Amino acid sequence: MTAQDTSLPMISAKQLRFVYPRGGVVALDDVSIDIPAGQSVGIVGQNGSGKTTFTKTLNGLLRPSGGTVHVDGLDTSKLTVQQLASTVGYVFQNPNHQLFATSVAAELAFGPTNLKLPKDEIEARVAEALEFFDLGEHAKSHPYRLSFPLRKLVGIASVFTMHPKIFVLDEPTTGQDHQTTRIINRLIHRLQDRGATVVTVAHDMPLLADVSERLIVMWSSKVVLDGTPREVFANREVMDLTHITPPQITQISLGMPSRAGRPAALSVEELAEDVRAGKESR
Ligand SMILES: Nc1ncnc2c1ncn2[C@@H]1O[C@H](COP(=O)(O)OP(=O)(O)OP(=O)(O)O)[C@@H](O)[C@H]1O
Ligand SMILES: [Mg+2]
Repeated sequence: MTAQDTSLPMISAKQLRFVYPRGGVVALDDVSIDIPAGQSVGIVGQNGSGKTTFTKTLNGLLRPSGGTVHVDGLDTSKLTVQQLASTVGYVFQNPNHQLFATSVAAELAFGPTNLKLPKDEIEARVAEALEFFDLGEHAKSHPYRLSFPLRKLVGIASVFTMHPKIFVLDEPTTGQDHQTTRIINRLIHRLQDRGATVVTVAHDMPLLADVSERLIVMWSSKVVLDGTPREVFANREVMDLTHITPPQITQISLGMPSRAGRPAALSVEELAEDVRAGKESR
């Protein structure tokens, strides 16, 4: 049994380095990130900046070339992907890397069955997931017969039924339609209500503005900024460097002439507040 250091935050990466053996690409260079339990964090950055590589070190899919990663106080270098699976739920960018059961219901039951939960608990979790993800009518379908957006939801739902302490979503809304994007947004809020720690990698800034308390910006294998979405989107220099486009609402807010030092708006309601305040100050 590996020792658990309960004094550490839920996720703790220290001077993490990762070099892909093929090509010798340094994908993570001196990355140190602490994430407390229950926080919802977004990771943003250009293609190839190291986001997916970082998340794969959390569940043991990739082993650090240098530095350390602890999750829930456990040293990931001493555990297998299987041992970490109950702590770190990982949703792959591509659902085809994740699904293998012959029906949606079986896929959703797979994780809790592996955890050796009682039968009625497994059934309750599958029923809850079918409802939450609106997959009830597809329960008996083969996952590969579903559309890409629905297959992706099945992949997410099959992690959801395991109730992991840490939930990692890599590009959950890429290729999704409006309806499934809404479900994913609701999911992240639900996970937070449950006290889970959520790490979402995305290029979808409106999603992250809504669901993340904190954004970590990666550029060229390093962390270049770490702050609230408001702080990050208002940092013109880093937004330019990393080619990140803040949500339109935030851009309009930042461009308002009479903002009187107010923080950038992240929602329509906040922008309306900016407009009202601007009129009053005229
Ligand atoms: N299996 C691999 N073998 C070799 N190099 C890799 C491999 N996977 C990723 N890389 C390289 O490592 C670097 C970081 O890649 P990574 O996938 O972590 O980026 P990312 O930020 O997730 O990008 P994206 O937004 O495109 O998903 C890139 O230079 C990439 O080409
Ligand atoms: Mg990626």
